[in-house]
Amino acid sequence: MSLAIIGGTGALDLFDVREERRVDTPYGRPSAALAGIRVGGLDGWFLARHGRPHRLPPHRVNYRANIDALHRVGVERIIAINAVGSMDSNAGPGALVVPDQLIDYTWGRAHSFSDDDISPLRHIEFAEPFAGPTRAALLAAAERAGVSCADGGCVAVTQGPRLETAAEVRRMARDGASLVGMTTMPEASLAREAGMDYASLCVVANAAAGLDEEPISEEAIHEVLAGAMGRVRSILAAFERP
Ligand code: HPA
Repeated sequence: MSLAIIGGTGALDLFDVREERRVDTPYGRPSAALAGIRVGGLDGWFLARHGRPHRLPPHRVNYRANIDALHRVGVERIIAINAVGSMDSNAGPGALVVPDQLIDYTWGRAHSFSDDDISPLRHIEFAEPFAGPTRAALLAAAERAGVSCADGGCVAVTQGPRLETAAEVRRMARDGASLVGMTTMPEASLAREAGMDYASLCVVANAAAGLDEEPISEEAIHEVLAGAMGRVRSILAAFERP
């Protein structure tokens, strides 16, 4: 079993890198070279979703190249780290949540490998987008590490890079979302199309737009994310093969 970590905003330097591998794909270049790492007791790969240095906005990430590159090096399980805003007053800035559902509000992203008349047309089953054993193994790792991490939540995935309006957040909350981020889709469904098990570890950076008296500040987001990375690292260090 080979595991990959896809790191988002604030999650660039979680691991010691043992080797770097540049992988080309029919969809173009992934966001960065794949970095060979150890995750807990396992060999794995780390991919910086927004590039190294951080430069690609969520709507410009080549999600297909990223997932295809990981597939080519034999990855079967992915843990994605996603920065999010929260609509849940029990999950404030700094909270960690492993979601069990998502709603996709993105548009215009190359979102499927079934995208021409040559590739097989697949209608993947996606009722439970984080259904596999990696999600449970992630929660078990958090428990072993003694790091508090909520089990369950619904991520609304927006196009970005702007943050949401207060009315958009109210609508997403009415729709049933408890978190809002910009990168879980199409990453999660592409992983499913490629036959890989995908789990997400959401790091709450801020209360979603309109829910706090103060406007959301990018500086505060980066500070909160930086403060949470020690706990993210502890969870991943405790990860065991599901
Ligand atoms: N909305 C969308 N994406 C995010 C947010 C947010 O409030 N915070 C961090 N990533």
